[in-house]
Amino acid sequence: MGQPKPRSSSRFLTRVVLRNYKSIASCDVRLGELTYLIGLNSSGKSNFIDALHFVRDALVGSLDNALNERGGLSEVRRRSSGHPTHFGVRLEFRLRTGEQGHYAFNIRALKDRGYEVQTEECCLYGIGKGPFFRLEGGKLKDTSEDTFPAVTSDRLALVSASGLPVFRPVFDALTAMGFYNLNPKLIRELQKPQDGRLLKSAGENIASVLGHLERNAPEAIEVIEEYLHTVVPMVHGVKRTAIGPMETVAFRQDMAGSKYPWEFLGMNMSDGTLRAFGVLTALFQGNRDYTPSLIGIEEPETALHPAASSALREALQRASEHTQVIITSHSPDLLDDASITSEALLAVVANGGETKIAPIDEASRNAIRNHLFSAGELLRLDQLAPDPKLLAETGSYQVDLFGDQQ
Ligand SMILES: Nc1ncnc2c1ncn2[C@@H]1O[C@H](COP(=O)(O)OP(=O)(O)O)[C@@H](O)[C@H]1O
Ligand SMILES: [Mg+2]
Repeated sequence: MGQPKPRSSSRFLTRVVLRNYKSIASCDVRLGELTYLIGLNSSGKSNFIDALHFVRDALVGSLDNALNERGGLSEVRRRSSGHPTHFGVRLEFRLRTGEQGHYAFNIRALKDRGYEVQTEECCLYGIGKGPFFRLEGGKLKDTSEDTFPAVTSDRLALVSASGLPVFRPVFDALTAMGFYNLNPKLIRELQKPQDGRLLKSAGENIASVLGHLERNAPEAIEVIEEYLHTVVPMVHGVKRTAIGPMETVAFRQDMAGSKYPWEFLGMNMSDGTLRAFGVLTALFQGNRDYTPSLIGIEEPETALHPAASSALREALQRASEHTQVIITSHSPDLLDDASITSEALLAVVANGGETKIAPIDEASRNAIRNHLFSAGELLRLDQLAPDPKLLAETGSYQVDLFGDQQ
């Protein structure tokens, strides 16, 4: 086994397989550096992102916490007449060092209202070819390692296995995924100074993140300011500022009749500006000290003027050169650009409450390739549907979560 080559692309998750996660009965998709999850309201876009977020939450905190935050197992596992008893996730990944592998688990509801991790598997290179472990019902079935920490069936073993140097990089990468649904109300509030290495979900520690970047990666702030200025031309700069024991963000903004820009605190800025600032900070927060492995952003175009779409698209594209990016959107304006290739799109639809996710169908792929329509135009025409052929392929066999796969 030769030394793997460091990864040349930002692609961390290469494939995501889901079973019975919320409205998603089954899904098997490949991800690129930048993915647009496109679909109508309630089609299940957020549920897909939430499945990845769940993995992160369950590893950073505990499985119990991750379930409780979502209303318990009964809310996470798919509700349907068939009453599935399990839900499961398989993530195939490529680490920055170039090592490939997969991490998969499924969770089973128990009769007494509890749950257990029925199977959990983590593997680098391929089963038997590199470091791996497999657990069933809280018991270690097989591993490449001479010693393995104690495990229980109500927790994910990767948490304790991260104490072993071979599994640590997998744990670190999976817990370095960031998921964003930016909330202008929280960005606007005075914030307590806190850890600013990774932006939190709603932007509630954005002042600390800005402070961290000011100290460690001023060039990242320049990029954020450059795009913010394109999206909101009046704004020229942004910085962290202390107010008593609290902190907030301050924006430099042109004022009519004034020779010099004025400074406005976050509390006086518009929702659109604050959201755009949040999206850009999420995208460009990576620095030598800490870089997210993947960034998922919910509807980044919300509260933005359609004219800002091209700057936003460019920012997404640029960020995805360093960090894998997934966004959800139902905005034709954001997709109105010939540079968005069909490979970057995943169509999401819900039929009878069941979510289907796949690359768009062949006719739409051809229309984009031949520049007949942009992705945005196809969305307006309601022509962005998952490819029925691909859905039939992944639906025709029971998508397996475990073991080596093609
Ligand atoms: N446990 C579950 N089982 C089945 N459907 C679910 C479950 N949890 C949520 N849903 C459904 O998911 C849909 C919302 O999906 P969501 O991902 O938020 O849509 P959007 O595409 O707007 O982001 C709702 O229709 C809801 O009924
Ligand atoms: Mg949503």
